[in-house]
Amino acid sequence: MTFTLEIHSATTIAHPNIALIKYWGNRDDTLNLPANGSISFNLAALEARTNVTFNLDFPADQLVINQEPAGGLALARVSAMLDLVRAMAKLNVHALVESTLNFPIGTGIASSAAGFAALALAASRAAGLDLNDKKLSCLARRGSGSACRSIPGGFVEWLPGISDETSYAVSFAAPDHWDLVDVIVVLQNQPKKTGSREGHTIAFTSPLQEARVADAPRRLQACRDAIRWKDFGALAEIIELDSNMMHAVMMTSSPPLQYWEAGSIALMQAVPGWRSEGLQVAYTLDAGPNVHLICARKDAEMVREKVLEVSTPVDIIVSGIGGPARIVRSV
Ligand code: DP6
Repeated sequence: MTFTLEIHSATTIAHPNIALIKYWGNRDDTLNLPANGSISFNLAALEARTNVTFNLDFPADQLVINQEPAGGLALARVSAMLDLVRAMAKLNVHALVESTLNFPIGTGIASSAAGFAALALAASRAAGLDLNDKKLSCLARRGSGSACRSIPGGFVEWLPGISDETSYAVSFAAPDHWDLVDVIVVLQNQPKKTGSREGHTIAFTSPLQEARVADAPRRLQACRDAIRWKDFGALAEIIELDSNMMHAVMMTSSPPLQYWEAGSIALMQAVPGWRSEGLQVAYTLDAGPNVHLICARKDAEMVREKVLEVSTPVDIIVSGIGGPARIVRSV
């Protein structure tokens, strides 16, 4: 595209997502083609708001996160995504990327998913492209695998695919299909030692990863069915199994990754008991110690009280199910 104006800019909002069936390990680490499909929902209460401005006067790409200039690896990952957009738009202009998140970064709450979904949409729009949801999801995936799941809204499945064009996420149920919430028990809000990026590259060093991947189609089907029929018991069984299988792979990879803390284990031990008392609640953990308690909205307050009986969180965040990434301003 030939720039006729000097400044092109777009602002977008995207939500992070919580995986119910997890992504861990790639068949291609450069393209982020996952070893298995995954299922998630977006978290309505949490968001990344990102503005991208392309300007002929900028000497280099710049990144500002929560009003602080960012460099290093974060800027390199953002520039790599801008390069993809510039190649698609045939553009040779640097950009300023300003992102604000209303939740902690790098703690196992998927900040990179929300950030790269918002960036893919803002950068492509600011560059004058009008990508459909499938292409946007593919683009977001290149920044961070799970970001492809933050492009569509509601309950989402990432179809793993076998190439850049065939690996993207689609929505299979609207946000209001089932009134679930995620009660996020924040036990630790410091950035984790080993990020998902490094973790994915060593997943196949675990002797358990092959079995985990081979069984994924069965777990995906069980999760899809549980969501379709709103069968909480079936959902709880499959998501706890899937989370435990991913952490078993993490703990048995080389080097081993151990994300759980005492509070995480106390909660995982307590939750099945709360369920047998009648609460609709199940746990899942990403690459961090924080525990995501997926529960029926009617049970969220009781779950919060029970959490405080067995752990000492630094914060508890409650979120319902969110919609797709969206543009809020474009000039
Ligand atoms: C444990 O998508 O954050 O949260 O592609 O390297 O950015 P990168 O990894 P990322 O991995 C997410 C891993 C997970 C499970 C999941 O969300 O499915």
